[in-house]
Amino acid sequence: MQVAVIGCGYVGLATSVVLADLGHDIIGVEIDPVKLENLSNGKSPIFEAHLQEMLDAGIKAGRLSFTDDHVSACGQAKVIMLAVGTPTRETWEIDLSQLESAIDSIAEALSSRNELNGTPLIVVKSTVPSGTTDYLSERLGSKTDKPYLIASNPEFLREGQAIFDTLYPDRSVIGANESSAFEILDELYSGLVSQNFDDSPPLPGRPDGYTSPVPVVKTSPRSAEMIKYASNAFLATKISFINEIANLCEEVEADINDVARGIGLDSRIGPQFLKAGIGYGGSCFPKDTKALHHHAGSRGYTFTLLNAVIEVNRIQRYRFLAKIRRALEPMGDKTIGILGLAFKPGTDDIREAPAIDLMRELNRDGAILKATDPRAIENAKLEFNSCEYLDDPYKVAEGANALVLVTEWPEFLDLDWKRIAMVMSGDIVFDGRNCLGREGIEGAGLSVIGVGR
Ligand code: UGA
Repeated sequence: MQVAVIGCGYVGLATSVVLADLGHDIIGVEIDPVKLENLSNGKSPIFEAHLQEMLDAGIKAGRLSFTDDHVSACGQAKVIMLAVGTPTRETWEIDLSQLESAIDSIAEALSSRNELNGTPLIVVKSTVPSGTTDYLSERLGSKTDKPYLIASNPEFLREGQAIFDTLYPDRSVIGANESSAFEILDELYSGLVSQNFDDSPPLPGRPDGYTSPVPVVKTSPRSAEMIKYASNAFLATKISFINEIANLCEEVEADINDVARGIGLDSRIGPQFLKAGIGYGGSCFPKDTKALHHHAGSRGYTFTLLNAVIEVNRIQRYRFLAKIRRALEPMGDKTIGILGLAFKPGTDDIREAPAIDLMRELNRDGAILKATDPRAIENAKLEFNSCEYLDDPYKVAEGANALVLVTEWPEFLDLDWKRIAMVMSGDIVFDGRNCLGREGIEGAGLSVIGVGR
């Protein structure tokens, strides 16, 4: 099937390479000239496991190409996917301008579209509040008299595992008002739903026990849109909940890692998203929780619980900062080494990353900063430059009064702590993710300060 994917970020690119692997013909539309040039030269503009290899394979097979020309891409496609950004404004209201301008380009493309190419299905993959797909449909209808179908089809992929999650989803959610829209997406996704594809490299292998068919939830566009927001809000709620329990554990001298294990073994609760620490970051949870809260407010509903989730997360990184200050004051002459800049392991993304906020505050305190990350140094430099960025964690430790682990990259989990203790000038390791083995660190003569233990 011929598919145009508008927006080549995480969602658009992961979807494009996977659909190309399943045998569809994909044209990615990207208006950022730098990204487009990279993609046209076969280079992924973002770091994501398996993405570069699958991009190579799709281009080589002749099933994947890129352009900035909406009209030509949308003129022939049977499916037009919208995967552009939906940032939040200062007021927490969502900014739909990228979607609106994509819809306006589609209107232009439809006007000159050959009717022999059939009625296209427009698929909204971007994360949006309930009612947005209906609004976009009205906007398109007011600009063209050509026929089209529209559906909401949110994605649930995680950065760092975008390809894996696209290939092996827990579920697929489709919201539409016409049966023909469901039929087109059933056809597009049939290989994924039945798992009828070869999972050898460059694809990540199918996990043991993964069963097909993948459940498909078919509903209205408004419910599909709400499923996406509610999923992210619920996961963020789990994180803020466990962080509050962790804060309480500190007061009563309990250990949050044991507490989280103990509650996670209850199958009604489940073990995932119960890792306490410095709080959530990234381009999704911070944005989507605020957007849902604002959306509720715009409908006259005060989402009290979500407000608390957002506030707990905001405060969590400052509580951690307060621990660093308490242990090291006065800060003016202290050298602090930061381990991890990305908002989580497996990505070079630093959007809403706790490390950047921490470094800004510590810099204001007068501390001298050194930092490392396996992937995110270049992005961090663009955001904050009062820091010496180094490739080697042992160099970061040299002369440091304290080390602060902010991102739990596997590379930091089995460091040689004796070697680190020898080169540090102080003896404190702050573990913002409760992921470091205490015995090794304490055995090297260092002390560890974590969260909730
Ligand atoms: C999240 C969702 O997990 C995806 O399902 C969703 O599709 C995506 O947002 C999106 O809306 O596009 P992502 O932001 O990539 O994915 O990352 P997560 O793995 O969910 O982690 C988010 C943040 O929560 C990270 O900062 C992570 O460190 C933090 N986290 C996660 C915790 O602090 N504790 C945990 O137990 C789990």
